[in-house]
This record gives sequence, structure tokens and C-alpha cells, in this order.
Amino acid sequence: MSKSVLVVGGGGREHALCRALSQSESIAHVHVTPGNAGTVNYATNHSISASDVDGLLALSETLAVDFVVVGPEAPLCDSLADVLIEHGIPCFGPQAIHAELEGSKRFAKEAMQLAGVPTAEYIVLDSTSDFESALVSHSDNPWVIKRDVLAGGKGVVVTTDLQEATEFIKESIKTDGHVLLESFLPGEEASMLVVMDASGFVCLPPSQDHKRVWDGDKGLNTGGMGAYCPAPVVTEEIHHKVLERIVKPMHESLSGMDVPYRGVLYVGLMIDENGDPFVVEFNVRFGDPECQVTLPMIASDVGELLFAAATDALENHSVSFHDKHCLTVVLASEGYPQSAIKNRLILGAELADDEDNVWVSHAGTGMNDSNQLISTGGRVLATTAIAPSLSDARALSYQRMEKISLQGSHHRNDIGYRALR
Ligand code: AMP
Ligand code: GLY
Repeated sequence: MSKSVLVVGGGGREHALCRALSQSESIAHVHVTPGNAGTVNYATNHSISASDVDGLLALSETLAVDFVVVGPEAPLCDSLADVLIEHGIPCFGPQAIHAELEGSKRFAKEAMQLAGVPTAEYIVLDSTSDFESALVSHSDNPWVIKRDVLAGGKGVVVTTDLQEATEFIKESIKTDGHVLLESFLPGEEASMLVVMDASGFVCLPPSQDHKRVWDGDKGLNTGGMGAYCPAPVVTEEIHHKVLERIVKPMHESLSGMDVPYRGVLYVGLMIDENGDPFVVEFNVRFGDPECQVTLPMIASDVGELLFAAATDALENHSVSFHDKHCLTVVLASEGYPQSAIKNRLILGAELADDEDNVWVSHAGTGMNDSNQLISTGGRVLATTAIAPSLSDARALSYQRMEKISLQGSHHRNDIGYRALR
């Protein structure tokens, strides 16, 4: 039976979800709220904010959707999945008790300890702690300091600057009461998205984000400036280790709880020089922009996969992947990530594409009163391509990017460099 689905959110990740769901045979209609200027090509946009839990429940009931797919973490931490499930609406995205894996770094660390999952050592500092000696005793490597709240990507500082470390600790303790000081993990990062429910799990192909704003991984951290999938740093041997040491123990631990984890667990990995994987972070949602390069790699029906996870039916569900490579390049507004200049005209995004190979995903876009496409956020859009080789996917993405203009905007020129060097 064909289903209707409501996607919650309005960024590049949700554009990718709408696109993949609209291409799924199992899905008759895709709704999205609030969506963006690009999601209208695949879905019906609605105006309820992704943070309005009551409004989202009411919308789901009015539309009588078969299930809801939640993009961002904040509504999950605010119990959106709990509320939907209470009203009989299946939800792809975990309940609040599990959303704490992203909402609280300490909770995530404790969950990892309980499951025996490898991660960096850490200590918790509060106003009674002697944090000066703690910093001295961790001074062989950069200091890694993490706030224990949802901080929209601004909750982590990795620094060798004592003053910056000290100030971040003091500020965090003042606002949050405590903060985590973590050992530095050297290595290369990768992301593994694992779709799971009470009955089973499916590892999607690993990907790699580019978090720094400038080429060569220089400059400030961002939400992510581009990504590609699969990431060859996760060799078959490392994949096996991730499965045995991280995914299976986490799934066992989560599925043994009264409330199962239904959704996607984003495993942020650091792979050290011996090829041993450690967890840097968990997120309780698809990564952005990892989602944009991972969903197109799924050859089977994405709607069926997400519905199965929302209804504890993964055990008997099989998923197949394309033997291809997908790469996305993000275009950001002038001033991003500090303060993005918005409301500028975007030209060239509307040109027709051979959508099977290359397409434009919108993130921070909208229409002005004259019905022209404008920027409304820091990360504005992305050009994504899928091809038999990573270098072809990269060439297609960058060729498409060249046709787009937005005053003052910037993008990285080296997406995929670790795999292509
Ligand atoms: P998180 O939000 O925990 O993923 O941290 C943001 C970024 O900080 C990560 O993507 C890493 O680049 C870096 N990071 C976090 N924890 C560590 C660590 N223990 N060692 C080295 N880098 C880290
Ligand atoms: N791209 C990193 C994230 O979604 O958290």
C-alpha cells in the first residue's frame, strides 16, 4: 500500500529526505514542514515550525500521514517522537530518552561506557573543580572541551590555547553548571549512519564530512561544507571493527531497553593510525550534509526502509546499495559561519538538471515578494552528484556549482580530497 509521510525540518538534509522519499515506490505523497524553496519540487510544504511539537502533532493528524520522519535533533529532544507514538503515529526518529545521546555528551559517554564502546576518556568539571590542574594534566595534546547541552554545533572547543580553553570552561560552567574535558583522539574522521529499531539495524555506507570552513580543513568549524560517500578510510576491516565494537553493542544495549531506538544513529568516528575506531559523538538524526550523499546510495526503496524502522520491522528488511560514489558541495552565505548575510538573490539554481546524476539541494533558501529565489540561511544550497567514480561525481558537482551565483558566497574547492589525493 502506498503511504503518505510528513518530513519535519527545512534544511539540506530534509531536501534530501523529500527527494529520496518522493522517488520511493512505497510513498504516494510527501509532506514537509517547514521545508524550503527546493522541497516544493518533491513535496507539499507546510508552515508549522520544526520546534512546535503540538503543531506538528496536529498537522500529522490533519494530514493523516502513515508516518513522520524527523530531520533535526531538537524536536526529538523535546519529545516529538513520544507524542506522535502516544497518538498512534509511527515516527522515524527516537524518543526523548534516546535523544539524550545527542542532547547530553555526558549521557552519551555513560551509554558508551555501559555498552563497552571505545571512546575518548573524559572528566566532568564543575565550579568545585580545580580545572587549572586538570588542564595541565591534559596538556600533551590539544584540549577538547564539550558543553553538555544542545549547542547547535557550537558546543565543542578543540584548542591548544590555554586562555581559550580556560574561558570556555568558565563560561560553560557558568551557564550549564558543568562541562566535559575529553582526551584528544588523533586520526581521521568518518560518519556511519545506522538505521535501527527494536528488531535490527542497517549500516548505511560510511561517509566523510568537511567541517572546517576553508580548503585544507582550515578556519572555523561549520555545520559541514561538503561530503562524499562511501569514504574509503573505512576499509572493510575497519567496517568490521565498527560493527563488532560499536554498532552491535550499542544496538544490543538500546534494543534491550523498555523503549527501543527507532530512527538513525549517527556514529561520528575517529579512526586512529592502527585502524582502530573510536566514537567522537553520537547524533540521533541523519548528518547534514552526510544525508545528502548517503540516501542517493540506497538502491532499494528508502520509504520502505524508514517506515520499517519506525515500526520495528527492520529484522526482515533487506536494503541494497548502488556501486557508485556520491559527492556534495555546500554553498554558504558571506560571513558564514560567524554571521551570515541573508536575503540575497540566487541565480542559476533553477536551471534544469539531468536529475539522475546531478541536482541542487536547497537548505537556506526562500522566495521574495517578487517570487525570486533568495538566501535565508548560512548554508544556502548544495550541488550533489552521483557517478561511477568519485572523481566524476566531484567534477559534476563542481561544474553545477559554477553555474550558480550568490553575491559574497563561498564554497570549498577540495571536497573529497582525502579520498582523491
Ligand atoms: P562533536 O560535536 O563531539 O562531534 O565535536 C565536534 C568536532 O570536534 C568533531 O567533529 C571533531 O573534529 C572534534 N573532536 C571532538 N572530540 C574530539 C576528540 N576527543 N579528539 C579530537 N577531536 C575531537
Ligand atoms: N555534519 C555533521 C552533523 O550533521 O552533525
